[in-house]
Amino acid sequence: MEKYVINGGKTLEGEVTIAGAKNAALGILAAAVLTDEECIIDNVPYVEDTKVLLRAIENLGARVKYIDNHTVSICGGTIPNSEDLCVDDDYIRKIRASYYLLGALLGKFKYAQVALPGGCDIGLRPIDQHIKGFEALGAKVDIVNGGKVVAKADKLVGNHIYMDVVTVGATINIMLASVLAEGKTTIENAAKEPHIVDVANFLNSMGANIKGAGTDVIRIRGVQKLKGTEYSIIPDQIEAGTFMTMAAATNGDILIKNVIPKHLEAISSKLTEIGATVIEYDDSVRVMADGRLKSTQIKTLPYPGFPTDMQPQMAVTLALSQGTSVITESIFENRFKYVNELSRMGARIKVEGNSAVINGVEKYTGANLVAPDLRAGAALVIAALAADGFSTIEDIKYILRGYEDFDGKIRALGGQIEVADTDRDVQKFKLRVG
Ligand code: UD1
Repeated sequence: MEKYVINGGKTLEGEVTIAGAKNAALGILAAAVLTDEECIIDNVPYVEDTKVLLRAIENLGARVKYIDNHTVSICGGTIPNSEDLCVDDDYIRKIRASYYLLGALLGKFKYAQVALPGGCDIGLRPIDQHIKGFEALGAKVDIVNGGKVVAKADKLVGNHIYMDVVTVGATINIMLASVLAEGKTTIENAAKEPHIVDVANFLNSMGANIKGAGTDVIRIRGVQKLKGTEYSIIPDQIEAGTFMTMAAATNGDILIKNVIPKHLEAISSKLTEIGATVIEYDDSVRVMADGRLKSTQIKTLPYPGFPTDMQPQMAVTLALSQGTSVITESIFENRFKYVNELSRMGARIKVEGNSAVINGVEKYTGANLVAPDLRAGAALVIAALAADGFSTIEDIKYILRGYEDFDGKIRALGGQIEVADTDRDVQKFKLRVG
């Protein structure tokens, strides 16, 4: 099993270029099947989640071609309109975004059958709001044997839909299902994340009529047909934030390129508050830290609040800062699973309900760790880079789902990290860098 082996304690310095946004890409790749014409999508991150979704789209019968590692051509015109169509394999069940094919296929064919989504185990992840939205458009939705969701409609008609919780997935899914519906759909209490806006912009470039994405009321006027398009995905806010906290936690100096600084404001302001220096340029940010940072309070919230996907990386940074910090997780109920691992490196963190009380320590010491999920896995890499001595991190498959060339980018910044297959590889690394 592949693992990372890391020799910590090095200051990370230099430049890193951020890939396209994974969570925007997942919505956009699924949206591309809504037209029979070719869509060429650029700045697609070359990560496991997008590869798995593209394979599922190809398995449906679409023509999918990588023009290069980051540019994909999708032509949905060859997907058969058949009730035999089913999105289900061992891989697709592991990714969350499989559910976007539910909205896209329902929108296109008025019929969809998709295995219930998996994704990171960060708590209960219901899809009741997705189902509520599809039903409001006129679909009948059933969960059948083997954990598949089947959605079916004679026709889809626009409606007024109020979301009971702010959800990224359901907001995107309802947009996908309603762009070809008859009449007007209004999504109230919609999520406002940058990737919602990106999916809406992509759909509009295909000829959809969506207004208000990025606010909490999205208005969609159904159109009869969508056409092919060429589109470039926005940069990944969370990958950027991960490198920002990496600079802060390792007392480094990193210029993070290909970002939209506005999308990073919640992260930038917290890092500034604890004493790091954040300089914003047009499409890059530079993060520097020198000496011990300070404590703060953070509560995760839907955008523009502090993103839950940055909570573990920020906790790793705060656990090295002076004083007591409190992080409250308000989106997912099981997102502190990395705390045990971090404690084994010397962190002093106590979880009480949905809050973590963090008493900063001066140093972590290297340890053998296991990544519990995608973002927590990335956070443990940051901890290991900041720690004294060697660490190993198992289950890097989670990290590979969402970070492109993570170890390569870290090496280019001076971090000592390698992928090791065997204990012998680990020993070789230790001899080489130790
Ligand atoms: C997406 C992101 C994930 C991020 C999360 C919040 C993708 C593929 N994943 O996940 O990285 O952490 O947004 O920014 O884009 N909820 C319901 N009913 C539903 C749907 C959601 O109660 O039908 C709840 C969830 O349990 C959670 C909250 O709403 O408490 C937000 O979830 P949601 O925004 O939907 O997250 P995902 O789309 O799963």
